[in-house]
Amino acid sequence: MEVIIRTDAGSGCMLAAKMISRLVRTKPGCVLGLATGNTPRPMYQELVRMHKEEGLDFSRVSTFNLDEYVSLPPGHPQSYHHFMDINFFNHVNVPRAKIHIPNGMAADIPAHCQEYENQIRSAGGIDLQVLGIGLDGHIGFNEPSSALSSRTRIKTLTPKTVEENARHFKDAAQVPRHVITMGVGTIQDARQCLVLAFGERKSGVVAKMVEGPVTAMIPASALQLHRSAIAIIDEEAARQLTMIDYYRWVYANKPEWQKCE
Ligand code: F6R
Repeated sequence: MEVIIRTDAGSGCMLAAKMISRLVRTKPGCVLGLATGNTPRPMYQELVRMHKEEGLDFSRVSTFNLDEYVSLPPGHPQSYHHFMDINFFNHVNVPRAKIHIPNGMAADIPAHCQEYENQIRSAGGIDLQVLGIGLDGHIGFNEPSSALSSRTRIKTLTPKTVEENARHFKDAAQVPRHVITMGVGTIQDARQCLVLAFGERKSGVVAKMVEGPVTAMIPASALQLHRSAIAIIDEEAARQLTMIDYYRWVYANKPEWQKCE
């Protein structure tokens, strides 16, 4: 896995936005896999700025979000549909018909999950999947012990994730226990994965993801098997990495054509 260490979250998100904009410019009909959460918010802000000020055109782009809470309707303020609308889709020109987010209100959840997988395949597969990482090592909502070959399905959140996400709700009792999430295998099928993690509190799990054993107990560690996974992290999240000097060295010595500055 390639590790890029930036001074802070802001510059990490700027770099992520640049990588996405480069893809959108070189492949206007690309398929983006998107994440919610606090981490990528500044990345979406930068993409919105690029759209408004630099004409970055999303009119041929398709998107697939990682996950959604079961039982929250799209208009619910804590739904991931709502998050994506207010942070991104309401401000750019991705056609509504090309936006895909799991439907937490689906009557037949297994059939809906299968259909989601089919839609990703029909769109040609995901070119670039944006990911955050949970404190317990989840990507999407693949909690520890998730099968590393899993596909889109219903998952039960761990009490730790419920507690972690309670800050967005009135209290923990309101956080849905179930989610629909792309599986680890679905994520692994993306042509490129971009994981963002910032802040000291993520440093332990980042070290496990990058340098620990590949294990279902840290689903993000499966990205070590991905042919093109990049972790963009800040100095604080990098603190527990043992090969930190090497990651800096690799980035400093990158061939010009590989850089995205
Ligand atoms: C969100 C998602 C989650 C988050 C993770 C980190 O769509 O799939 O895996 O990326 O929980 O959340 P934040 O960024 O809020 O720390």
